[in-house]
Amino acid sequence: MLSLPWKTVALGLSLLGVWFSVEVECFPALFDRISELPGQPKVGFQQYSARDNLVFLQNWFLKFPQYRNRSLFITGESYAGHYIPQLAELMIQYNKKHKLFNLKGIALGNPVLEFATDFNSRAEFFWSHGLISDSTYKMFTTSCNYSRYVSEYYRGAVSPICSRVMSQVSTETSRFVDKYDVTLDVCISSVFSQSNVLTPQQVGETIDVCVEDETVNYLNRQDVQKALRARLLGIRKWTVCSNVLDYELLDLEIPSITIVSQLVKAGIPVMVYSGDQDSVIPLTGSRTLVNQLAKELGLKTTVPYRVWFEGQQVGGWTQVYGNILSFATIRGASHEAPFSQPERSLVLFKSFLEGRPLPEAF
Ligand SMILES: *[C@@H]1O[C@H](CO)[C@@H](O)[C@H](O)[C@H]1NC(C)=O
Ligand SMILES: *[C@@H]1O[C@H](CO)[C@@H](O)[C@H](O)[C@H]1NC(C)=O
Repeated sequence: MLSLPWKTVALGLSLLGVWFSVEVECFPALFDRISELPGQPKVGFQQYSARDNLVFLQNWFLKFPQYRNRSLFITGESYAGHYIPQLAELMIQYNKKHKLFNLKGIALGNPVLEFATDFNSRAEFFWSHGLISDSTYKMFTTSCNYSRYVSEYYRGAVSPICSRVMSQVSTETSRFVDKYDVTLDVCISSVFSQSNVLTPQQVGETIDVCVEDETVNYLNRQDVQKALRARLLGIRKWTVCSNVLDYELLDLEIPSITIVSQLVKAGIPVMVYSGDQDSVIPLTGSRTLVNQLAKELGLKTTVPYRVWFEGQQVGGWTQVYGNILSFATIRGASHEAPFSQPERSLVLFKSFLEGRPLPEAF
């Protein structure tokens, strides 16, 4: 089984106390269907997505004008590395004429920012965490790297060599390890595709690794769907990823780090954070990208690479550049950091909203 490069994209909009979160589970940018509306210029989903989000916000502020003044922060993870910078860029453009959005910062968690750097950091992550052997690591970095494989896969033309390498990688990593958190147990019922069964909480587990299955089951209850006023259209069951949507898979390869660069130049604080147990968008790729960006922008280090604390324990590591661009890891956290490290994530999130560096001591 091939797993998609990630599963969750969350777009959250915080208006100091008001918190929206739209979970777009699944990835790539959808489009095609809507890109070919009669009489409309062909547009990629990404542009549509940002534009739709902008329209949503405009109308939201019309309906709730009492929030117009508030500081606005946007955060999300994974493919939100594309959605959020694009939306923020549109907001800034819009503001030039209308001054509507009081955008104070964006935070991106385990984000896709640059295809090759992000995806090719997977090999080292697997290898250094003991998930693949030395020889497989070598093949995975020389014969066929991950960005090449994904690229071929999305073009429907996987080469024999990439197929061989990936098959070896999959065998060694095994389906019993969660690629979104390599130290977390997997949901056994999910691995065996019995996702209709509600799994009892495992004894001694502080994290319910079956929460995704349980959520899917919950959202498929008729009373829940009725309460949410959600109707199923073109599908019989609500699932995390659905084939009724067409995805523009290759948008993935368009770098969004260049947009992040524009945002920083426009004075918008940016934080990139990484759950450090995620192998899908590993911290090493994000750290490299942020560091490179700081160099390009001529931003000096204002907080040198150091640990930060939550309680009396290390919550992760952080570095800040030019008091505007920051990188942080969350120790022991998954791709969806708040899921596996809620307390540490909360400290990071609060610091982000307060525009302060992460706690240096306890
Ligand atoms: C909104 O902004 C105006 C101008 O900056 C300020 O005078 C006013 O107090 C603000 N209102 C609220 C509710 O924050
Ligand atoms: C990945 O593979 C592509 C295609 O073979 C190559 O151009 C690129 O340099 C490789 N990247 C890394 C980091 O090895």
